Amino acid sequence: MEKLKFVHLTDTHMNAPETNNIFSKQQLTEKVRRVFGHIRDNAISPAFVVITGDLSHEGNTQDYEYIRTIVDEGSSLLGVPVYVVLGNHDHRAPFREGFLKEKPSEQPYHYSHTIQGVRLIGLNSQIKGQHHGEIDAEQLAWLEETLRTPAEHGTIVALHHPLLNINGMPADHLLANREQLGAVLEGKDVIGVVAGHVHTNNVGTYKGICHVAATGTAFGGEAAEDNQFKMVDFCGYNVVSVFEEGITVQTVVMPGMQEEFFRFSMEAAAAHNE
Ligand SMILES: [Fe+2]
Ligand SMILES: [Fe+2]
Repeated sequence: MEKLKFVHLTDTHMNAPETNNIFSKQQLTEKVRRVFGHIRDNAISPAFVVITGDLSHEGNTQDYEYIRTIVDEGSSLLGVPVYVVLGNHDHRAPFREGFLKEKPSEQPYHYSHTIQGVRLIGLNSQIKGQHHGEIDAEQLAWLEETLRTPAEHGTIVALHHPLLNINGMPADHLLANREQLGAVLEGKDVIGVVAGHVHTNNVGTYKGICHVAATGTAFGGEAAEDNQFKMVDFCGYNVVSVFEEGITVQTVVMPGMQEEFFRFSMEAAAAHNE
C-alpha cells in the first residue's frame, strides 16, 4: 500500500528578473512555475516537494528573496511544504539571508522533517567556491545520531551531489566522500536517496539503497560529438511513491522542443571546475 508520494525537483538555477547571466533568456523561473502548475493540474497530490539544489545560478541575496517567493507560490498552490537543499551554484550566506530570512552565515543547511511517517533528511553537500561536494564531519555525526531511531515509514535523504556515477561524467561530479556517507546510511531505514547536479536522470542502487539523480527543471545535459557536452532545453520532475516495501520513481517530462542552448568541451568544463 502506498504511504505517500512526493515530488522531486532539482537544478532550478533560478535568478531574480533583474539578474543578468548566461541563463537570463531561458526563463528558468517560469519553468518552475509551470512545473508547480503541472503537478496541480495532473492531481499528483504530493505530501511534499523537495528541490535538490542549484536553486539559484550564483545567486545573491536578492535572487534568494525572489526564489523564496516562487517556492512559497508553489507551496501554496499545492498546499504542501517545499523543502530545499543547496547545490554547488548556491551560496550559503545569501541563501540564509534572502531565503531563510536569517542572519547571513556560512553554517551548513541541513535538517530532518517527518511528514506522514516518512522522514526527509536534507544534507548540505555544497562547499564554498567548489564544484565538487562533500558532507562535513559534523553533518555525518548528526546523521548517524538521527538515523539511530527509525522513522515509521522509512527515510529519504536529499542532497545535491550524487553517489552514483553516470557513464561519461567526470568523477568530480560525485560526492567526494560518498563512501563515508554510504557507511552511515547502510543498514538503517533509508529507502531512497534523491540528488541532482548531473542534469540527467539516473536511477540505481548504492549500498543497496535506491538512488535517483533527476534531470531537473532548468536544462538537460547530453554528451555530444568530439568530447563536447551540450545543454538542451529540457524540463522535468520525478514523482516518488513510498510503499511499505520501498519506492517507485516516475519521471514526468514537460512539453518542449529540447533545443540546444549551448555546448562546451569536457576539457573546458574541467578547467572551469578547478
Ligand atoms: Fe545544476
Ligand atoms: Fe550542480
